[in-house]
Formats: sequence, structure tokens, C-alpha cells
Amino acid sequence: MIVTMNRIPINAEYGAQFEETFRNRAHLVDEMPGFISNQVLRPTSPGEPYIILTQWESRQHFEDWVHSEAFTKGHAQSGSLPREAFAGRNALELLEIILDTARPDLTPEPHGQPFNPHG
Ligand code: HEM
Repeated sequence: MIVTMNRIPINAEYGAQFEETFRNRAHLVDEMPGFISNQVLRPTSPGEPYIILTQWESRQHFEDWVHSEAFTKGHAQSGSLPREAFAGRNALELLEIILDTARPDLTPEPHGQPFNPHG
């Protein structure tokens, strides 16, 4: 099982608008094979990025989504945020969940290459 965290730095005055794009999100990811959940995490300290968290049954499931039409369509509104909404570049982290109180049956992920969104 994999958790992905996309850290997106958003200027404070655009926080509400950024959150609104997620309230109106496409929901296409919800139908993808291996998708478990998506959370939008609002920072509690000024200057910290939002984190878009997803959980997947496997890394392969996540990568299949990133390369799918659902990913492109699911980000169709991202461009409606002005450039000045972003306070910096996003940073994506992928971590394997090795223990989960809710999932005692987890199987290990194959150890692979660093994530390459274009690969
Ligand atoms: C280039 C960097 C990215 C930015 C600036 C960004 C920003 C956004 C925004 C503003 C939305 C709201 C919906 C829309 O815009 O249509 C969205 C949707 C979403 N993003 Fe990203 N995103 C990026 C890449 C990623 C990556 C790598 C992930 C993986 C964790 C991710 C996860 C999601 C999910 C799960 C949704 C909801 C899609 C749906 O409902 O089908 N995003 N993103």
C-alpha cells in the first residue's frame, strides 16, 4: 500500500479559492482501480503548504492513474488558479505503508525506481 503526498505552497489570500477547486473536484480518481482515499490537508501554521494525500493499494495503481486521462481531466480546473496563487513549486512524496492498524493483511511493495511522472 502506498501513500502519496503532494505538497502545494499556496499564498494565504488564495487558500479559499484553492480549497474550492477541491470541493468541486472531478471525482474521477474515485473510480480508478486500487484507489483507496484522498484527503486535502490544510496547514495549521502560516507559510506551510497544503498537502493532497492519496492512498493506493499499490504504487502501480498510483502510477497508472498519473498516466491516465482521468488524471488530466481531474486537473482541468487547476489552471483556473492564477499563477500568483502558488507560493512555490509542488513537491511529491511517495511512501510505502508497511504497518496499518486497519489493514493487518498488507503485502510489501516491490522495491523499484524513484518515481518519474513522465516514465
Ligand atoms: C503539478 C502539481 C499539481 C498541482 C498544482 C495540483 C493541484 C490540483 C488542484 C488545484 C486540483 C483541484 C481540481 C482541479 O483543479 O481540477 C487537483 C486535483 C487533484 N489532485 Fe492535484 N495537483 C498536482 C499534481 C498532483 C499529484 C502528483 C497528485 C498525487 C497525489 C495529485 C492529487 C490530486 C487528486 C487526487 C485530485 C482530485 C482529482 C479527482 O477528483 O479526480 N495532484 N490538483
